[in-house]
Amino acid sequence: MKTLILIIFLIFFQNIISAEEDSRVLVEFPAMMQEHMMGNMRDHLVIINRIQLYLANDKMDKAAELAESHLGMGSLKSHHAKQMSKFMPKGMAAIGTSMHKAATRFAMKCEEGDLLPAYKALAEVTSACVACHAGYKVR
Ligand code: HEC
Repeated sequence: MKTLILIIFLIFFQNIISAEEDSRVLVEFPAMMQEHMMGNMRDHLVIINRIQLYLANDKMDKAAELAESHLGMGSLKSHHAKQMSKFMPKGMAAIGTSMHKAATRFAMKCEEGDLLPAYKALAEVTSACVACHAGYKVR
C-alpha cells in the first residue's frame, strides 16, 4: 500500500516537474552581440513605460514619435536588426519583425488620435515581447 502511494505521488510529482520545465530554445549569439541585444531589451522596456506615460498624459504625438524611432520599422538600423537576425532561428526573427511592424502600426494609430485603438495596437507590441520571451533564451 505504502509503495502504491509512493508511486502515485512520484507520478504526480513528475508531472509537476515537467510542467515547469524550461522549453525555451537556447539561441547562442557571440558575446558582444548578446550584450548589445540585452541592452536593447532593457531600452525596450523603458520605451514601453515612457509610451504609457505619454498616453496617460494625452501626448499621443510624443508616444508615436518615441515608438517609431525606438521600436518601429524606423528603429531597425539603430538596433543593428539585420546583423542580429542572422543569428536567430527563423521563428524568432519573425517575432522580432512582427514587433517592429506592430510598433509602427501603433505610431500610426496615435497619429489618428483615438486612444482606444492606440492601446489595442500597443498591446500587439507587448504581445510580441511576450511571445519571443516564451519561446527563446540566450543563456
Ligand atoms: C525576437 C525576440 C524578442 C523580442 C521581440 C523581445 N525580446 Fe526581450 N528578450 C529576448 C531574449 C531572448 C531575452 C533573454 C532571455 C534570457 O535568456 O534570459 C530577452 C530579455 C529581455 C529583458 C531582460 C534584459 C536583461 O538585461 O536581463 C528585458 C527587460 C526585455 N527582454 C524586454 C523586452 C520588451 C519590453 C520587449 C518588447 C517591446 C522585448 N523584450 C521584445 C527576446 C526578445
